[in-house]
Amino acid sequence: MAFCNTYGPWALVTGASSGLGEHYSRQLAALGLNLIVVARREERLRTLADELQQACGIRVLVLVVDLLHPHAVKMILDGIGRRDVGLVVSNAGFGSSGPFLEQDPAMLTRMVRLNCELPIKLLHAFAPHLIERGCGGIIQLASTAAFQCTPWMAVYGATKVFDLHLAEALMVELGPHGIDVLAVCPGHTETEFHEVAGIAKAAIGGAAKPEDVVRQSLRQLGKRLTYVHGRSNRLMIRSNRLVPRAVSAWAAGRILGKRLASQDDKS
Ligand SMILES: NC(=O)c1ccc[n+]([C@@H]2O[C@H](COP(=O)([O-])OP(=O)(O)OC[C@H]3O[C@@H](n4cnc5c(N)ncnc54)[C@H](OP(=O)(O)O)[C@@H]3O)[C@@H](O)[C@H]2O)c1
Repeated sequence: MAFCNTYGPWALVTGASSGLGEHYSRQLAALGLNLIVVARREERLRTLADELQQACGIRVLVLVVDLLHPHAVKMILDGIGRRDVGLVVSNAGFGSSGPFLEQDPAMLTRMVRLNCELPIKLLHAFAPHLIERGCGGIIQLASTAAFQCTPWMAVYGATKVFDLHLAEALMVELGPHGIDVLAVCPGHTETEFHEVAGIAKAAIGGAAKPEDVVRQSLRQLGKRLTYVHGRSNRLMIRSNRLVPRAVSAWAAGRILGKRLASQDDKS
């Protein structure tokens, strides 16, 4: 009930049609929050909405929006109307893999727009309402990729540094207004992310379950600035701090390069 009072009655989840966004929707619905679910795949959103409305007795507003549309945030605001949004889960995002020079710069630019420009516009649009309420929350999906450079996923890693720094800075700015901002940093997680990014499942191994990432991160909202999922990821980040940046860049390049090369060999 306390969660609902602080972050309800409505939560907005971008990228709710699969992966982490779907699980944020499921777990927030189980906590009693009404949902506004946003993505492009309408059928998936409607199936999820029907299921959660029946199972949890909550209301779900489905907004089919391509978040790369220049007026995406206005379309969301228009769809929401006067609903009182207390929690924004800025989750939609995608990645890509491969040598920088072999990737389409137009696609990389779309990635920057979805992963970086959209959170700016979304949080800028919703934060004033949260401030007016005097309580609420923002969850921004970043990644463990934000803690060192990611050769062969160069642009993706850079977008996640942006997300991490944006969320951490906003916690400092918005915290005094009663708003809890949490940067969530999963490592490899079993979602559709890798398929979209062109990374074979076999190349990752030991991926976390999205429901675990979501459950643990929701527990950290209001308690921490940043949540890194998984002990080994936290350990890796700590050890990275102890070595020169050149060494951590080289190590990241070796690990990612090996994984991608092994998937190419198998294909
Ligand atoms: N999985 C991982 O290993 C991992 C690790 C660290 C961080 N993350 C971060 O977690 C977040 C969620 O990713 P995920 O792992 O859950 O991947 P996912 O299963 O591929 O989900 C991505 C979501 O984003 C939505 N989306 C993508 N482009 C969109 C667009 N143009 N307009 C509207 N919605 C769009 C997709 O919906 P539609 O296709 O239906 O539009 C989908 O719901 C991302 O920010 C990602 O960077 C993931």
